[in-house]
Amino acid sequence: MHARPEQRPLIVIGGGGHAKVLVSTLRAMGRHVTAAFDDDASRHGQNLLGVEIEGTIDAASLKYPWADAVIGIGSPRVRHILAERLPFNWITVVHPHAYVDPTVVLHEGAVVMAGAVVQPETVLSRHCIVNTSASVDHDGHIGEYVNISPGVHLSGNVTVGNAATIGIGASVLQGITIGENTVVGGGAAVIRDLPSNVVAVGCPAQVIRSIVSDAA
Ligand SMILES: CC(C)(COP(=O)(O)OP(=O)(O)OC[C@H]1O[C@@H](n2cnc3c(N)ncnc32)[C@H](O)[C@@H]1OP(=O)(O)O)[C@@H](O)C(=O)NCCC(=O)NCCS
Repeated sequence: MHARPEQRPLIVIGGGGHAKVLVSTLRAMGRHVTAAFDDDASRHGQNLLGVEIEGTIDAASLKYPWADAVIGIGSPRVRHILAERLPFNWITVVHPHAYVDPTVVLHEGAVVMAGAVVQPETVLSRHCIVNTSASVDHDGHIGEYVNISPGVHLSGNVTVGNAATIGIGASVLQGITIGENTVVGGGAAVIRDLPSNVVAVGCPAQVIRSIVSDAA
């Protein structure tokens, strides 16, 4: 039989800056973080705000099967691979100083950082990130593994495709659709739909190149 949630270990996958902010956020939620794991051996034995980076990610699944866990890695592609592969109970994370309307649907692994605002009837899909002080207005649809970077503002009815990244401080007008895997540069203003697998920058945002999909 599985332990009750408050008795389960809680681990963070990843040992970099995003993982550090997650440890801080989980503590603000009143959770004790047991350990962190990272495949970069140079990080083993180091700590994130006092939480030890104990070993590789595979070691985590051996040592803490059925742990509560959250992925603290910025790359949408890596989050996707790990979420499919690992056995953990992926929790949702919402900083107590974020506002998430009660009608918002949060799927497993979704993360909302401090100062973020998510307005009514928005969907936050699996393992997406709404980062520090970003806002997602009403009826947004944020796809799986998406990164909404700090300070981004999405107007109402915006759809962001799976694994897309909206760069720091970008703004997106109402009703826009951004395709899967697309990257919007920091500070961009998106005023027209963007296709999948492109990088777009500037005000207004223009496509500067394609992204070759390496989905394995
Ligand atoms: C858009 C982005 C991904 C492009 O990265 P890249 O593919 O390595 O592109 P480059 O740095 O080679 O730049 C290519 C061109 O786009 C321009 N460019 C890059 N980013 C830009 C931006 N955000 N706004 C306007 N122009 C930009 C460069 O000046 C360069 O122009 P040039 O060819 O005339 O010299 C990156 O610059 C960016 O904005 N990333 C967002 C980072 C972020 O949000 N971090 C938060 C993490 S929490």
